[in-house]
Amino acid sequence: MLDKVADKAFHNDVVAGLSLPQKAIPPKYFYDERGSQLFDRICDLPEYYPTRTETSLLSRIAPELPDRLSDVAHLIEYGSGASRKTRIVLDALPQLKSYVPMDISEEFLLGVADALSANYPQIDVVPLVGDFTAELSLPSAVRNGTKAGFFPGSTIGNLGPEGGREFLARTRRQLGSEAKFVLGADLVKDEKVMRAAYNDRAGVTAQFNLNILSRINRELGADFDECSFHHLAIWNAEQSRIEMHLVSEKAQSVTVNGQCFAFADGETIHTENSYKFTQATLRALAESAGWRTEEIWIDEEYPFAVVLLAAA
Ligand SMILES: C[S@@+](CC[C@H](N)C(=O)[O-])C[C@H]1O[C@@H](n2cnc3c(N)ncnc32)[C@H](O)[C@@H]1O
Repeated sequence: MLDKVADKAFHNDVVAGLSLPQKAIPPKYFYDERGSQLFDRICDLPEYYPTRTETSLLSRIAPELPDRLSDVAHLIEYGSGASRKTRIVLDALPQLKSYVPMDISEEFLLGVADALSANYPQIDVVPLVGDFTAELSLPSAVRNGTKAGFFPGSTIGNLGPEGGREFLARTRRQLGSEAKFVLGADLVKDEKVMRAAYNDRAGVTAQFNLNILSRINRELGADFDECSFHHLAIWNAEQSRIEMHLVSEKAQSVTVNGQCFAFADGETIHTENSYKFTQATLRALAESAGWRTEEIWIDEEYPFAVVLLAAA
């Protein structure tokens, strides 16, 4: 048990997180294969406006992309998941030599990359398994030539202000001085609409949230009783973020690989933040990390931004 480096890091992060006064687990651990499948189902839920909004925004701006990204030879997508929106970009940029989908969820990533290779035989699809919150080297296939980063899904909102800035600064260094970057980010809107997106009636987001406990049980030898925790998603206006938590329904203790953690009735594990931006906060974030804003396209009905950045 726990002989792999990745398992040890997972164990250390879970133990450290459950030892905090406000218990927390980093959201990257949502994404085992089942977590990735559940997130893909969330994308199709009627309440989950971000996916359909960003997809239609990308389709609307696709005719502008060939001019805007005419020099780009390699597209690197961070947290690529099902790479659904990527197809719009790949179709708009026939000059692309390679596409690097990068994700932490290995099996899911490799399955998606196989399907993309079959659909885009003219592009070299080079999947990269890794953690975008850490330094990582790009494959040698993309060493020469202009690169563009692609980071849709408002995943930037899961990183927090400081994590988001570090991520954008790191990718700026990684992609080089000629780089472009296409960033999708959710904007503050009607609170009811935002809350509903994380509290769907079919309960898929609840399953996605609770799945992290079954993953910890399976991979770290823990004994969480999933039935005695429930999903909670709230809007924190002061921090401009949706917070997801798992709420303990009773006083209980849980053991993780031999270490015991006590929960009070109603105590929560904070599992994710989804920060919501304004155009000004988004621009300031990108510019503080060495990028220049070339264009911001907005969906007005469900405010959402796709931003084109260039290395400053
Ligand atoms: C919110 S989903 C977005 C998926 C897709 N890009 C979209 O727009 O629908 C976040 C994606 O990032 C991946 N991910 C989360 N944390 C990660 C990390 N630290 N490193 C690499 N990938 C990560 C997840 O596996 C998932 O595919």
